[in-house]
Amino acid sequence: MTPAIDLKKLETAAAHVRAKWPDLKPDAAVICGSGWSSVLDVIEVVDRISFSDIPHLGAPGVVGHAGALCHARHGGKDVLVFQGRRHFYEGEGWTPVALPIFLCLKMGVGDLLLTNSAGAIHPDFSPGDLMLITDHINQMGDNPLVGPHHEIWGPRFPDQSNVYHPKAVARLRAASGKSGVALREGVYLATRGPVYETPAEVRACRLLGADAVGMSTVPEAMLASAAGIRVGGLSCMTNFAAGILDQPLTHDEVTETATVAMPRMQKLLQSWIAQS
Ligand code: HPA
Repeated sequence: MTPAIDLKKLETAAAHVRAKWPDLKPDAAVICGSGWSSVLDVIEVVDRISFSDIPHLGAPGVVGHAGALCHARHGGKDVLVFQGRRHFYEGEGWTPVALPIFLCLKMGVGDLLLTNSAGAIHPDFSPGDLMLITDHINQMGDNPLVGPHHEIWGPRFPDQSNVYHPKAVARLRAASGKSGVALREGVYLATRGPVYETPAEVRACRLLGADAVGMSTVPEAMLASAAGIRVGGLSCMTNFAAGILDQPLTHDEVTETATVAMPRMQKLLQSWIAQS
C-alpha cells in the first residue's frame, strides 16, 4: 500500500521555502506540466529554488520538467511557479506530489492553476489544442487523501462537485478571450502511468466520458480543492491518444508538440496571471 502523506516532511519543506522568501505573499500559483514551463521565458523571474534543494521534494525524473520553484512577477502580480512536478508513477508515494499544494496553502495562495500535457481523445481535438479542464475522472486506482485525516486538507469526505472552481473556470475563459488564445473544454482522465494507454483503454476512457488522458493533475486538484484553494486546470493536447492513429506514442512527440503550442501557452498564462 502507498504510504500516506508525511505531514512532518511537508512542514520541513514549507519552513525551508518560507525562510528563503520571508515576505512573499503570492497572488496565485501555477504548476507547470510538460512544456508549460516556458511561460517563465516571458515573465520576470525574481528568484528561484531548485526542487532538489527543497527538502523531500526531489528533482523530477522526467524530460521536459525543469524542477525549480520560481518567484515570478507579471503585470504587478507575484506568482509562485513550479517549473515541473513530481508524479505518482515515480514511485515515491504521495508526499512529493502533495508538497507543492502544501506550500501553496502555507503561503496563502488562493488561486492555483494546474497544467499538463495530455493525449487527445475527443474526436474534434487535435495535437496542439489547449483544453480548459472542466472536470476529471480519477483512474489512478489510488488517491492522496487515503490515510489518517488531517484538517489541513479540509473535511474527511471532500465534496467533488466543483473540483475546478467556477471562478477559476471563468477566469480561464476570460484569459482566453483577452489573449485571443482559443480553448477547448473537457474532462481530463488520469491514469497511474507510466505506460501510455492501449487503444482498448482509450476507447474505454471515451465511453467513461473523457476528452483527454494523462498521468497527473488529478491528485493535486483533489488536495487543493479539498483544502479550499480555487483550482483551475489546462491541458495541452500533445498527441492523439493511442489507437487513433496507426503509430506508436513517444515522449519526444509529447515534448515536440508542446514546443509548437508554446507561444499560445505563454500568451494565455500571461493573461491569466495579470487577472489575479
Ligand atoms: N496518455 C497519457 N499521458 C499523456 C499522453 C497520453 O496520450 N500524452 C501526454 N501525456
